[in-house]
Amino acid sequence: MSKLSSTLLKPPLARRKTARKKKQTHSKMAFLSSPSLLSLPFLLLLLIFQPHISAQISPGSTLLATDLNTTWNSPNRTFSFGFLPNNENPSSFLASISYSRVPIWKAGTVDLGGTLQFQSNGNLRLLNGSGFIIWQSGTENLGITTATLDDSGNFALKNGSSVTLWDTFNNPTDTILQNQNFSSGKTLRSGIYSFHLTMSGNLTLTWNESIIYWNQGLNSSFNSNRNLSSPILTLQSTGILTIFDLSLPNPVNVVYSSDYSDNGDFIRFLRLDSDGNLRVYSSFRGSGIAIDRWSAVLDQCRVFGWCGNMGICRYNDTDPVCGCLSENFEASDPNDSRKGCRRKQEIANCPNSATMLQMEHTQFLTYFPELSNEPYSGGITACRTNCLSGASCVASTVLADGTGQCYSKLGNFVSGYQSPSLPSTSFVKVCGPALAYQPPSNSSQTQKNSSKLNARVIAIVVIATVLGLILVEVGLWCGLCRKNSKFGGLSSQYALLEYASGAPVQFSFKDLQRSTKGFGEKLGAGGFGTVYRGVLANRTVVAVKQLEGIEQGEKQFRMEVATISSTHHLNLVRLIGFCSEGRHRLLVYEFMKNGSLDNFLFSTGSSEKLDWDTQFNIALGTARGITYLHEECRDCIVHCDIKPENILLDENFNAKVSDFGLAKLVNPKDHRYRSLTTVRGTRGYLAPEWLANLPITSKSDVYSYGMVLLEIVSGRRNFDVSEETGRKKFSLWAYEEFDRGNIGNIVDNRLAEQEVDVEQLYRAIQVSFWCIQEQPSQRPSMGKVVQMLEGIVVIEKPPAPKTMEGSLTGISTSVSAISTFVGSAPAPSSSSSPLALDSFSVSRRNIEKASSTSTWNG
Ligand SMILES: *[C@@H]1O[C@H](CO)[C@@H](O)[C@H](O)[C@H]1NC(C)=O
Ligand SMILES: *[C@@H]1O[C@H](CO)[C@@H](O)[C@H](O)[C@H]1NC(C)=O
Ligand SMILES: *[C@@H]1O[C@H](CO)[C@@H](O)[C@H](O)[C@H]1NC(C)=O
Ligand SMILES: *[C@@H]1O[C@H](CO)[C@@H](O)[C@H](O)[C@H]1NC(C)=O
Ligand SMILES: *[C@@H]1O[C@H](CO)[C@@H](O)[C@H](O)[C@H]1NC(C)=O
Ligand SMILES: *[C@@H]1O[C@H](CO)[C@@H](O)[C@H](O)[C@H]1NC(C)=O
Ligand SMILES: *[C@@H]1O[C@H](CO)[C@@H](O)[C@H](O)[C@H]1NC(C)=O
Ligand SMILES: *[C@@H]1O[C@H](CO)[C@@H](O)[C@H](O)[C@H]1NC(C)=O
Ligand SMILES: *[C@@H]1O[C@H](CO)[C@@H](O)[C@H](O)[C@H]1NC(C)=O
Repeated sequence: MSKLSSTLLKPPLARRKTARKKKQTHSKMAFLSSPSLLSLPFLLLLLIFQPHISAQISPGSTLLATDLNTTWNSPNRTFSFGFLPNNENPSSFLASISYSRVPIWKAGTVDLGGTLQFQSNGNLRLLNGSGFIIWQSGTENLGITTATLDDSGNFALKNGSSVTLWDTFNNPTDTILQNQNFSSGKTLRSGIYSFHLTMSGNLTLTWNESIIYWNQGLNSSFNSNRNLSSPILTLQSTGILTIFDLSLPNPVNVVYSSDYSDNGDFIRFLRLDSDGNLRVYSSFRGSGIAIDRWSAVLDQCRVFGWCGNMGICRYNDTDPVCGCLSENFEASDPNDSRKGCRRKQEIANCPNSATMLQMEHTQFLTYFPELSNEPYSGGITACRTNCLSGASCVASTVLADGTGQCYSKLGNFVSGYQSPSLPSTSFVKVCGPALAYQPPSNSSQTQKNSSKLNARVIAIVVIATVLGLILVEVGLWCGLCRKNSKFGGLSSQYALLEYASGAPVQFSFKDLQRSTKGFGEKLGAGGFGTVYRGVLANRTVVAVKQLEGIEQGEKQFRMEVATISSTHHLNLVRLIGFCSEGRHRLLVYEFMKNGSLDNFLFSTGSSEKLDWDTQFNIALGTARGITYLHEECRDCIVHCDIKPENILLDENFNAKVSDFGLAKLVNPKDHRYRSLTTVRGTRGYLAPEWLANLPITSKSDVYSYGMVLLEIVSGRRNFDVSEETGRKKFSLWAYEEFDRGNIGNIVDNRLAEQEVDVEQLYRAIQVSFWCIQEQPSQRPSMGKVVQMLEGIVVIEKPPAPKTMEGSLTGISTSVSAISTFVGSAPAPSSSSSPLALDSFSVSRRNIEKASSTSTWNG
């Protein structure tokens, strides 16, 4: 037939094909299947009386799921409306508008007998094989006389005067095409997930219309709580998501796809996928596939409910995978891990033996309060016991991010996430003893095991769990009595402790090599080694520090790592994990977006300068972090290397002290006096007692902090020597100026251009002079420093810091050794103080010095 018609009529390609479809659609006449002459006049008729047949569909037309080749097409065939096969289920078909077989609007899914009907009363509907209405437009009896699919992808139902009464652009399903307007009040849906544009211009992703798990507002220059007049979201064909609104002076670009501004024969669309993530896609004509160019939720495990109720999201090497919490649970649907899990024994049938299963590095997603109560600060024990005794509580999560906040889950839906990088511990109520999680082993083998073997395995698991719990208790008890040495010996105990105390994750060297792209992206180099950027499997960006000069054995190293990682505070950089393999010793830290303080303090470009408020907050945050190290954490730590390079800034410019606890790693042997073969402290920030063979205490950190504080105020390195300071050591010169009341000379010129809280500034200067007192006993404790900065306590005028020469006792030998060296140093002012040594390495062999970290009582 097609041969006949094409040779006889030679109609344009597009028209011919559509005309054929039209015929079949209209009549389902038997004769069409055979090359009959009857078809010829019919075809002619169609061509004569319906010149725009390819674009228009008349009432009474029907598409069949059995005939995938018959579709309603846009004039230049860019888009077509019809049935698409379902790859996963060969007996189901998707009625949709598609671009090269990529669906961009979906009516619904039906079986082989399904039909899509444009009824003569103007209603468009989708029926399944048993004649049930799966979906309909609900537009009957509105005077609709025609339907069109245009080249922008919009399918419209129109009345006699070509007024659109219903169209797919205004009734989106899960996708917005490029240039399609999506106004506030409309919804994209995919299963239980939905996407909205709020009146304030926020983009939100919502689970079950109750939990907002992603919320992106206009940028900070707009008030995100002010309502706009009628915001519209459009994906521009350039790949930029833009919000238009009458009350905005200009359209606001909110998202740029990774290929934005690329040109080519492709279309773009925004789709809410069935996994709850919102993505921008590009699809090339004819390719049949779409490539994602942006996704809203970077970490799929953060999509609420992705793994179903009681399901937990974890990453295998590469992908997020769903599973159950422990052997207390079983999959709701063994064939679909996303369907969640259920308790093997329900809590309701468990009157008195409910216990809390504890999961480290686990969070029950804590988005909005509907399914959980207000978080409260309670700590780990209260978080567990309160939930156990609360009748409506099913699970709880305590954050170890420094807030110690506890969230109790009240509803019946709990969505979990477990990852080495999560600083939280979770509890879930189970019936009977808490069992361990068994990672899925090679399933086929497991299933082949005889029941005898299974019984044995269960027995071993039970015994191991009980033993494990006992050991964990012992480990925790030891931890509480602060005797490191008591549980230091056994690596098996360590392994359990690691599991129990929020301890760090062990990475293999290969893992880290891969996540840092072969140690390719260097972030910096410090006293302890080089730092590289890395990305873990769950897309967490991390800083990987390759330690150098570690003299410790494996056991000792792990002990120190455990101490460091159990130290959590908002103003301390968090240790995520470590690697100890052969000679490799690496530490994995959270990544700080804004780098270290020195970049901002001593940069010459004024754009990189921070304002005073931010600087003061950094100073205060740093002081709080060090206070925590000195006074509040379990194994008190003297940092020994406080300097601007070790004060990192997160994306909100919060200070995070890094490198704490490392000094001990490098100089492990004795906690107090030793001959140092490697001095890691940094000139300019080292307290006098370092050089004087006197005990190092927390006051040494106070000295270094004082120097940093002075630098924050002045914007200058404390050891820089200049004409301006009369070639004196900066701190001494600064005190003289302060003493004469010339504060303006000390303060960074760049602060002069801003509004500065002068009283606060004055406080900071006074505190810095108190901290750099030569006699450790004269320096305040770090806790006192915080109070002084906050203005809680009255600050007396600090005395002169003095030079150390000759004033400390018992230092003559080392000082003379240093002086010999200093004599040949170029900087003239150096002679006033050994602290101004240009290079420690040269003199280090001569100095008997205190160790860099010490543990002390109280
Ligand atoms: C059609 O849909 C109805 C209602 O959803 C369902 O009960 C029926 O089994 C479906 N028929 C077929 C053939 O899928
Ligand atoms: C079809 O029409 C649309 C809109 O006019 C245009 O962007 C597209 O390039 C056309 N496609 C072809 C193959 O002509
Ligand atoms: C089409 O709809 C518009 C708006 O509802 C109406 O004004 C117009 O009269 C209708 N035309 C016909 C022919 O029904
Ligand atoms: C989208 O909205 C803009 C502004 O309101 C309007 O100019 C444009 O025609 C609309 N586009 C479509 C496809 O409706
Ligand atoms: C979604 O919310 C409805 C009503 O709020 C509730 O009945 C339903 O159980 C929820 N769905 C799930 C999966 O929790
Ligand atoms: C809009 O989103 C921002 C985050 O980008 C959020 O802080 C703000 O509260 C949101 N506003 C509303 C009204 O949800
Ligand atoms: C903004 O609009 C929403 C929805 O229309 C409304 O509930 C809310 O009260 C409005 N907020 C303000 C500040 O006008
Ligand atoms: C916020 O958006 C506006 C308009 O797109 C832009 O001019 C401004 O630079 C943005 N501000 C920030 C802080 O990104
Ligand atoms: C991780 O899970 C994905 C999806 O289940 C699977 O395709 C992949 O092979 C898994 N990778 C490893 C290393 O197990």
